[in-house]
Amino acid sequence: MMELNEIIKKLEETLSPRRFNHSLEVMKSSIRLAEKYGEDVEKAALAGLVHDCAKNLDKDAILAACKKYGIIVDEISERWPKLLHGQIGAHVAEDLFGIECPRILAAIADHTMGKPGMDRLSSIVFVADYIEESRDFDEIDIIRAAAEESLERAIVAGLDSTIRHILKKGRMLHPQTIATRNWALRQLNEMKQQEGQ
Ligand SMILES: [Fe+2]
Ligand SMILES: [Fe+2]
Repeated sequence: MMELNEIIKKLEETLSPRRFNHSLEVMKSSIRLAEKYGEDVEKAALAGLVHDCAKNLDKDAILAACKKYGIIVDEISERWPKLLHGQIGAHVAEDLFGIECPRILAAIADHTMGKPGMDRLSSIVFVADYIEESRDFDEIDIIRAAAEESLERAIVAGLDSTIRHILKKGRMLHPQTIATRNWALRQLNEMKQQEGQ
């Protein structure tokens, strides 16, 4: 694997200053969540740092990368290619940075829409992406508070906010967004039932 400071240098060169700062903040939030929820801190830090490594690509570059890596472009992603930056990012992280850990690569791949059944590491990066320090949008306080309660609560709160935003803009919702929310809600309900027993 590439040295960590080399990875950071590479990200600073390719990402906009704002996106680079966001990456560092997601790393910090991922570390904090990993400590809170009992996950490998180093893996969380690396996944958080690298999660947006393909965010700088424009539409043509995204579609070219999909061809190269055999990523299926569905109807909605074709309209909103940025939805694919996580999946491409996982390949970039592997090819360019030499990251091999499948859990880290999954966390990068699934950070945009989440995925039903995603593991704790993926959930941490998914939530950290919403709540990192420099983020400021409606409902951020609700999501930050939810993240203090459980990852599942934060995933639902984050996706509620995303879905409301997409509806307001009149855009198509990706079915994976809905599937992830339903999964996290089910997890929450199961946790409540177990607590009640
Ligand atoms: Fe992203
Ligand atoms: Fe991000």
